[in-house]
Amino acid sequence: MKKIVHTVEETQAIATQLAQLVAAGDTIILNGDLGAGKTTFTQGFARALGIKRPLKSPTFTLVREYQTPRYPLYHLDVYRLGEEGGSDEIGLEEYLGGDGVALVEWPEFIMNLLPNAVITVNLSRILGDDSGQQRQIELTGSTPRLQKLVNQIG
Ligand SMILES: Nc1ncnc2c1ncn2[C@@H]1O[C@H](COP(=O)(O)OP(=O)(O)OP(=O)(O)O)[C@@H](O)[C@H]1O
Ligand SMILES: [Mg+2]
Repeated sequence: MKKIVHTVEETQAIATQLAQLVAAGDTIILNGDLGAGKTTFTQGFARALGIKRPLKSPTFTLVREYQTPRYPLYHLDVYRLGEEGGSDEIGLEEYLGGDGVALVEWPEFIMNLLPNAVITVNLSRILGDDSGQQRQIELTGSTPRLQKLVNQIG
């Protein structure tokens, strides 16, 4: 699916739908520039699972873990690995394709660790948008099951 959203709430509404469709073992990668809305999307996803407090960005820890009634939620932000050459990525595998659902910011820095089956979320700003709140959001799935899943999102 692909659509243009005009507010944070609309971005998070898509995240809410995704949270309800995925299952333990699924991996979601979040692409987009600094400030595109990757953490904002993840916040909406977490809220749909009952996590009320604001997410702390895992910039220095690389991963934060949340227990939810549906599945463990792993929020990875591996931006720091890109700056430092990716030497301390050891151990992140256990969060990907395992017992929980992982959302990964800056997935390009751990390409070698990503499973083949992923949902990709592309977030981008709209050229000439004066409000600063418009984004194009595109979700794709790398397997037939995941592609079918993202196509259920409206
Ligand atoms: N439609 C929208 N969707 C998402 N975020 C929006 C939207 N409109 C405005 N914003 C704002 O854009 C900012 C997005 O910041 P966010 O931290 O989510 O980006 P990010 O992609 O995680 O960046 P980083 O790469 O630095 O981690 C927030 O301040 C948010 O309020
Ligand atoms: Mg972020």
